[in-house]
Amino acid sequence: MTNSRRIIITGFMGSGKTTVAQALANRLGCDMIDLDSFITKHESRTPAEIIEQDGEAAFRDIETRQLRHLLKKTDARVIALGGGTWTIETNRELVTRSRGLTVWLNASFELCWQRIQAISVSGGRVRPLAPDRESARGLYEQRRASYELATFKVKLGGNEDAGMVAAQIQTWIESLD
Ligand code: S3P
Repeated sequence: MTNSRRIIITGFMGSGKTTVAQALANRLGCDMIDLDSFITKHESRTPAEIIEQDGEAAFRDIETRQLRHLLKKTDARVIALGGGTWTIETNRELVTRSRGLTVWLNASFELCWQRIQAISVSGGRVRPLAPDRESARGLYEQRRASYELATFKVKLGGNEDAGMVAAQIQTWIESLD
């Protein structure tokens, strides 16, 4: 039965993970947790602050610890990962062991970059791992092979709203029953 299985949303920064995860949870009538918010709540610092103050390696250790904690202690059915979470093998193992169904929001680099920029220009969330177009592009290319390991892939053109994407994911989940 897929009914009780968790649905784990992955994808690059700016691919829309949190928004789609929330729309999916609304459709399924279940809870959703965003790993970045979970980390912020438990560490009293945002992922960006941790990366800026302690470095990326320290953040990855915290991220893995909090992912383990989240999977063990909460029963939210839909989880939005951070952009780098799924690229770490240990994290993929944790998700697989928890029988999570993984979904990759496959948005083009241009779409992700537009959103990353729009948010930072409007004074929104800082993304220390995407400080400029070149480095963001390099990271995007480097991560694609890991994202490909997700079970379900949704190609995004940029015009779909989150509800449409969530409906597509729901149809896929129901086809597994
Ligand atoms: C990261 C993405 C961020 C956050 C952290 C690291 C990454 O999440 O987890 O800054 O490595 O891509 P979003 O994908 O939600 O921006």
